[in-house]
Amino acid sequence: MEVATITNITLEGARILITGGAGMIGSHIAQLAVAQKAKVTIVDALLPLYGGNLFDLQEIATQIDFIQGDIRDPALMARVVQGQDIIFNLAGQVSYVDSNLDPLLDLDINCRGHLTVLEACRHNNRRARLVFASSRFVYGSIDYTPVDENHPFNCRSIYGIHKLAGEKYYRFYYDAHGMDTVSLRIANPYGPKQQMKHSKYGIVNWFIRLALEGKPLTIFGNGEQKRDYIYNQDLAEAFLTVAQTPGTAGEVYNVGSGTGTPFKEMARLVAAAVPGTQVVQVEWPADRYFVETGDYISDLTKLTTATTWRPQTTLEEGINRTVAFYREHWQQYW
Ligand SMILES: NC(=O)c1ccc[n+]([C@@H]2O[C@H](COP(=O)([O-])OP(=O)(O)OC[C@H]3O[C@@H](n4cnc5c(N)ncnc54)[C@H](O)[C@@H]3O)[C@@H](O)[C@H]2O)c1
Repeated sequence: MEVATITNITLEGARILITGGAGMIGSHIAQLAVAQKAKVTIVDALLPLYGGNLFDLQEIATQIDFIQGDIRDPALMARVVQGQDIIFNLAGQVSYVDSNLDPLLDLDINCRGHLTVLEACRHNNRRARLVFASSRFVYGSIDYTPVDENHPFNCRSIYGIHKLAGEKYYRFYYDAHGMDTVSLRIANPYGPKQQMKHSKYGIVNWFIRLALEGKPLTIFGNGEQKRDYIYNQDLAEAFLTVAQTPGTAGEVYNVGSGTGTPFKEMARLVAAAVPGTQVVQVEWPADRYFVETGDYISDLTKLTTATTWRPQTTLEEGINRTVAFYREHWQQYW
């Protein structure tokens, strides 16, 4: 079936909807899109404990339309998708720990919610480009690194299973209905504007909070496990680049830094950015050990072949910028 897409999108004047746009990644996408003169609408439920925060949008508050609403609301979604050129779908339950404790809530948001968006588009706007935020958690335990998009799905969390289902839904609407959908499997994002109310989101930001509070950083196991930490500004640029690149419809791409950093090296960089911080090592707690995936490093070949996007920010630079951001704005985030 021919895909009903717009090619060579420029952002100037484009109508962009961002679900979950008051969160860490979505608000960065919004900021970059507004800077390029796009007309941005955000739908975010601002659910407690998740990352939605109007402070994330304060620099652009007068230049966007903000709707407090839920992607699980079919009437709302039917209305807001109309006329949009690009729809970035970031709304989600983000914690893999919580997904295992409350799998039905994860199902409701990460599956039913996204099916609701897709159905709204099928009935009201088939020509929009839809970009879905998936996760490295679809790979689960890792068989080899760097991890390319053909790596098996050894899901170790309900979150990973539902993100995979989400990708499959987006792909199904491409195959069955000719809609222009693409998914990005995000590695370990960090940076300004992540919520810091609890430790269930990215560990880099949580370590930064602990360090700023004068508390020690705890490493599980030997700290050699590698992670691919991606600065959220770079990530936002990847979303916008993919959305503007023809030929990405129906595809799935890894997005990360492409670099594996040992956990203890990340902790060392945070400690260096906040002088006086102590780093301690302990055994793995049982609930975390089960979902521990082994080293993760993204293979970015597919994305960097298809697009001009490249990660720009070193981990040291990103951590320093994040520390500076929270030194100034911590009251808004914890
Ligand atoms: N942070 C990570 O470690 C990570 C890693 C890989 C993928 N992702 C995915 O990227 C996306 C964005 O994550 P983030 O890090 O910006 O998290 P975030 O919590 O800062 O942003 C998610 C936003 O979605 C909103 N939301 C949640 N449920 C909603 C609903 N039913 N309807 C409308 N809005 C809703 C929240 O209020 C929040 O503002 C998520 O889909 C997440 O699963 C995140």
